[in-house]
Amino acid sequence: MKDKRAQYDEVLKQFAALAEGEHDATALMANAAALLHEAMGERFFWTGFYIVKNNELLLGPFQGTVACMHIARGRGVCGTAWERATTLVVPDVEQFPGHIACSALSRSEIVVPVIDDRGTVRAVLDIDSRETDAFDDIDADALQQLTDILALHIAWQ
Ligand code: SME
Repeated sequence: MKDKRAQYDEVLKQFAALAEGEHDATALMANAAALLHEAMGERFFWTGFYIVKNNELLLGPFQGTVACMHIARGRGVCGTAWERATTLVVPDVEQFPGHIACSALSRSEIVVPVIDDRGTVRAVLDIDSRETDAFDDIDADALQQLTDILALHIAWQ
């Protein structure tokens, strides 16, 4: 199996090519979720986006099991990453106060904000794993590169 960094390099290259000339948020987020989920196989249990709409997070394109549809600002890992405009790596979801358990199978999580060129958080990328401690700086760095490509291409309304 290829190492994680090499896998991400390939994903980032493919996503940059896919994003070329595309500006639609749904289309780009849907393919980003599919590409990541497919490439990482068993490592990613749930891969998807929550989009800021009407001052809350609304479920967007994703791959994986049925998930909660609305998350308030400051609630759970996603709402906290939005509020703080920063990436959150949670090695054990049971230790995160206020974690929202969409699935009992999720044990660790990384959430990366999608920030537009004005510095506003427009969405978050949320990835869950069945294993504890599944995410580290390599994931954070690569996923931030991916959300940067995304934010740059989307024509935000
Ligand atoms: N666990 C997240 C909620 C979203 S699901 O994991 C898909 C949270 O605490 O924000």
